[in-house]
Amino acid sequence: MPTKATLRLDISNTLARPKDSKDKKLGISPRHGISRAQLDSIKPALETAVEQIKIQRRFTAEQLAKLRDRGEDLDLGFLDQPKCWLDNGRALAKLKRQADQLARLADKFIVAGIGGSSLGARTLFQALAHPYHNELPRRARRNRPRIYFEADSVDNDSLAGLLDLLPKRKPANVSQAFAINVISKSGRTLETAAVFRILAQRARQIYGANYAKYIVATTGGSSSALRQIAEAQGMPTLEVPDAVGGRYSVFTAVGLLPAAVAGIDIDQLLAGAADMTRKCLSKSLKNNPAAQYAAIHHLLYRKGKTVRVMSVWSKALENLGFWYDQLLAESLGKKGRGPTPITSVNTRDLHSRGQQHQQGSRDKVITNIVLKNPTRPQLTLPSVKNSPDGLQKLAGAGLHQLLTAALKGTNLAYRQDDRPCIDLILPSLSPYSLGALMQMLMIATVIEGNLLGVNPFGQPGVEAYKKLTKKNLGL
Ligand code: PA5
Repeated sequence: MPTKATLRLDISNTLARPKDSKDKKLGISPRHGISRAQLDSIKPALETAVEQIKIQRRFTAEQLAKLRDRGEDLDLGFLDQPKCWLDNGRALAKLKRQADQLARLADKFIVAGIGGSSLGARTLFQALAHPYHNELPRRARRNRPRIYFEADSVDNDSLAGLLDLLPKRKPANVSQAFAINVISKSGRTLETAAVFRILAQRARQIYGANYAKYIVATTGGSSSALRQIAEAQGMPTLEVPDAVGGRYSVFTAVGLLPAAVAGIDIDQLLAGAADMTRKCLSKSLKNNPAAQYAAIHHLLYRKGKTVRVMSVWSKALENLGFWYDQLLAESLGKKGRGPTPITSVNTRDLHSRGQQHQQGSRDKVITNIVLKNPTRPQLTLPSVKNSPDGLQKLAGAGLHQLLTAALKGTNLAYRQDDRPCIDLILPSLSPYSLGALMQMLMIATVIEGNLLGVNPFGQPGVEAYKKLTKKNLGL
């Protein structure tokens, strides 16, 4: 049963202890921590930021188009996506039917997209599918296909390697067949378009006239070149709404179709995100985790903590870290401002980045993403008498217990050295809790943009590289 309780934010290790106290249990030093007065002083700006989102959310398509023409994108459409899908049972059922149909057709499913058209789906797949999904026999995958991600570069060897896995002749059965979901909102991204050409050529080669039914294009409106190609060739299409930017698009067909193909419970995912939207637009800042998250991180940024480490305590969340890297970097990295995101997977990276986080420059805030319980059956340490490994005292202890001890130890070490860290605690990794977490992080990023004085939508810097690359290629 999916658990409904969502996330909890523990900010105690960012708070400054009273100036006259040396008791390290009462927080970190005032120089590195946040004081009560600072917390109080940010409240009005926070309330204004939440209020502004509520007003802008009601802007008409005409108003939004005018802003876009002035280069002031306002893509708040992501706020309404979860509820829209849940309220529109027909559209959701259609998307799920389409996913089931693709799963029946082919045992390999390639998601071709880059940036916001890839990272959300990758996050959902890594977090919610079996950790070795692609290596399981089809039956153990509940007849869902193996999932591959491509077009997130123009890397010859990576794509050539994938092509080695695909048939060169008409497949004899479903286990040899492959299908493609090409995703590009603009429909003009070089990487996606180039890789898709090559994949589509293989599809044409093996399926002949029937090839279009093995491809689904998820893309923007009529100005998208991908839409024009798909419609001309009879490929099914799904829409990326105009008012939803790439890195905010995980709860549109961009993330939902690949997730449904992989067998993920997308209703629960959307329910978590929809419930979180309500919470994060609430006036009471006390019950608004996005506002709290944004406020604490913003205050620490102003104190010189310009590097933000998303420290995930589950290997299944590494892609969540990469997704957040993009969300934060593209949304806030403007006008010479914005925190630098880094992902760290623990305990793995305690053996690499850990040294720097503990004793390096004091420019970091560590945000731990913690799962209270593992998702799979708990493993315990067997009893091995007279073993020199020194672990016999732990015989019968759960592996998760070891992880929790490492987290507590790491946090205490940070606190003792006045290094701020935050815990974001999920009861476990379910579609509901992940939906809630991702939506919370997107809303927090918008609020933070407001506090920082930058527009969290649009990515003019990325556009500059795209244009110059095309120029280099004579396009
Ligand atoms: O957040 C964004 O908008 C970008 O990262 C895009 O997702 C990325 O550049 C890919 O664009 P498109 O979906 O148009 O191919």
